[in-house]
Amino acid sequence: MKLRCGVAGLGRGRLFVEWLNALPECEVVAVCDSNSRALDAFSGLKLYTDFEQFIWRSDLDIVAVITPGPEHAPQSLLAMEAGVHVISETPCVYSLEQAEAIVRTANQTGRKYMLAEDYIWMGWTLFLQDLRDRGILGELLFAESEYTHDCRGGMLYDSEGRHYPVSAWGTRPDLKPTWRASDLPPLFYCSHTLGPLLHLMDDRCVSAVGMNTGAQVAPEVCPTDMESGLLKTAKGKVIRLTNGFCIAHPFSFYLGLYGSRGSVRMVNLGGDKMTRFYTDDEADKGWQPMELPWEERPDGRHWMQVMLGEYVQAIINDTEPPLDPCRSMDVTVPGICAHLSAERGGELVEVPDFRTLS
Ligand SMILES: NC(=O)c1ccc[n+]([C@@H]2O[C@H](COP(=O)([O-])OP(=O)(O)OC[C@H]3O[C@@H](n4cnc5c(N)ncnc54)[C@H](O)[C@@H]3O)[C@@H](O)[C@H]2O)c1
Repeated sequence: MKLRCGVAGLGRGRLFVEWLNALPECEVVAVCDSNSRALDAFSGLKLYTDFEQFIWRSDLDIVAVITPGPEHAPQSLLAMEAGVHVISETPCVYSLEQAEAIVRTANQTGRKYMLAEDYIWMGWTLFLQDLRDRGILGELLFAESEYTHDCRGGMLYDSEGRHYPVSAWGTRPDLKPTWRASDLPPLFYCSHTLGPLLHLMDDRCVSAVGMNTGAQVAPEVCPTDMESGLLKTAKGKVIRLTNGFCIAHPFSFYLGLYGSRGSVRMVNLGGDKMTRFYTDDEADKGWQPMELPWEERPDGRHWMQVMLGEYVQAIINDTEPPLDPCRSMDVTVPGICAHLSAERGGELVEVPDFRTLS
């Protein structure tokens, strides 16, 4: 018998319907979106506009929580308390208290909870993992990553759910900032950068400092343009993260790994990708070009399909999911701590380890 799956939030969630249905062990039986028009494309399934009814009435084994960020933790808690396994999009929590509640509830209910941090399953992460394993970089000492892009084009929405640019602010009384504008401190969205770095470094963060620009680009709509955090790890290494969404450039992702014997620097400027590496073993060659895959995996499989497949196997075999609740918080909570630090003038904030919860 197939696992009964539900998907809440049918923006990106539409893809989760496809990805879950593509797994032989799963069948999507119900979907939920607070905007009833989003349900039109899913006739034949159980349809809900209310998350609580969706959870209590559709007899689910798994729910994919793909709603706006601030909804994730309350909805995940409700689902686990109702006996449903949860896979949540990023950011999975918005506070240290929510993080603790998620870990505690997953422990108490025995439900399998996981953050769907897909970057860890992408081809480039596997490639860098192989480089690390072959010792080409030596011991990793410092890492940095930036995830920045312009979301100004859709930071307002009207009563019908249509999106508008920040320049429309003040032109109509019904336009409101989206959650991405008003309720997403940039470093809360740190798991795409921190997830792969901690995976490659096999480490966790213990303390954070942060600084941000405040609101200078569209102050009426978005309270923080860009934010950076410096994180100290349990192994004594350092990580630098930068996120920003109210900023004047299209998608940009950067990652740097610095080891005792070599380094890698990779950048993706809206599809224009460049990677260079250096190793002491070939010092005479200086920085060398490297053919790095982006999302594509060497096994040819879609990274989301592999990630969801591993999560579902953890449910079937009653094992820990690949990103268990504590690891899901490891790649999320340091961003919250760095943001808290920025709000407190750059003071050092300790990153809690929820493994100590009884
Ligand atoms: N991993 C990635 O690469 C990636 C990419 C895009 C988005 N995301 C994440 O996926 C999530 C969804 O992103 P999106 O772009 O679809 O967001 P979105 O703001 O477009 O909205 C998602 C949907 O949720 C619905 N919704 C709002 N409140 C709800 C509620 N209380 N209950 C049920 N439905 C509700 C909305 O009507 C909308 O259809 C976000 O957390 C985002 O950060 C991740």
